[in-house]
Amino acid sequence: MTSSDQPSRPHKTATRLSHSGRDSFGHHGAVNVPVYRASTILFPDQETFEDLTSRPFDTVQYGRTLTPSSDALESAVAELENGYRSISVSSGAAACSTALLAHLKAGDHLLMVDSAYGPTRRMCDTILSTYGVETTYYDPLVGAGIADLVRPNTTVIYLESPGSLTFEVQDVPAIVAVAKARGITTIMDNTWASPLFYKPLDHGVDVSVQAGTKYIVGHADVLIGLITLPDQASFRRVKRVSGTLGQQAGPDDVYLALRGLRTIGVRLPQHQRSALTVAEWLEARPEVERVLYPPLPSDPGHAIWVRDFAGASGLMGVVLAEGASEAGIRRMMNGFELFGIGASWGGFESLVLWTQPEKGRTATTWPAPGRTLRFHVGLEDPGDLIADLEAAFHRLGAAG
Ligand SMILES: Cc1ncc(COP(=O)(O)O)c(C=O)c1O
Repeated sequence: MTSSDQPSRPHKTATRLSHSGRDSFGHHGAVNVPVYRASTILFPDQETFEDLTSRPFDTVQYGRTLTPSSDALESAVAELENGYRSISVSSGAAACSTALLAHLKAGDHLLMVDSAYGPTRRMCDTILSTYGVETTYYDPLVGAGIADLVRPNTTVIYLESPGSLTFEVQDVPAIVAVAKARGITTIMDNTWASPLFYKPLDHGVDVSVQAGTKYIVGHADVLIGLITLPDQASFRRVKRVSGTLGQQAGPDDVYLALRGLRTIGVRLPQHQRSALTVAEWLEARPEVERVLYPPLPSDPGHAIWVRDFAGASGLMGVVLAEGASEAGIRRMMNGFELFGIGASWGGFESLVLWTQPEKGRTATTWPAPGRTLRFHVGLEDPGDLIADLEAAFHRLGAAG
């Protein structure tokens, strides 16, 4: 091995996931970049201080700016996303709101996808509106029709594809084409696919955000957000805002996120395989009206998913057949052996959530009349998961 762990020529993704962000011989041979618990960084003399602090975002100079630990994660994520640099912040929600704040000012108009993650909507309806930014929500399936919603003061179009409750797949290239022709910035929440299966910047999106909390961390034990930018100017713009907001993921979280990233290349394909098995089984059940999972050929977003994505994660929705009673769903929810009731996803464990997608919308009406559940298919044996689901459907149908 050479003195640096960085490969001398382009390698395949699996290889890069094992090597990116490392510098073993810069760290006494340690395979992983150690946790640098540093707020204060010392400088040997005044000249070095002046030199390094004149390059505010590119050098190790203060814990909130850059440490070897955050640099390792951020450069590995940027490499996976084909970006210039990534910025790690304290949560996925912080990544979404920081990216918005960095690109909006009073008087601007924002186009926000109607299927967006709840706290992202809340950001628009509270903080952004207080500070004079007007939001129009748009149909996730609008495609090139987004052009009709653009105003002279529209500066940002925000996408999330697929949405994490309703799983509509957006026509990103069509929306990006409209944005580019008008000089509008596009920001995309890419948490569902992760950069392993979708690279927003390759599709012309200007800012990629994600909750690293989910598949990058992969073990349900860290909150972290990542913002990836395509060039130095856009990186500096967002880093200036994240720093001003005081945003920086802590060193232990950064370390765990990078450890998670090392295995995302084997975990996510397994989530996908198991999720597809479970989704196909669910689709054949009489208690199920619709499975919301783009890899299924029956899903309305399937064609775009095939065109644009390299794979799928383990998160899906299930619309129950009309007539499922509240009592039946409560029996179902409360008796799972393997699916935990939890609002997150992306870890090794399976989860279930009773969702209400009809409540969080304003531009569109959620068309499915049945009650909706969201399942995260973890890394357990899919046969065991199906047995757990089968028992749950028996409880749903049992007389209360
Ligand atoms: C699509 C999506 N984006 C962002 C977030 C926010 O991530 P975090 O919980 O790390 O703030 C979530 C969390 O559930 C999410 O589902």
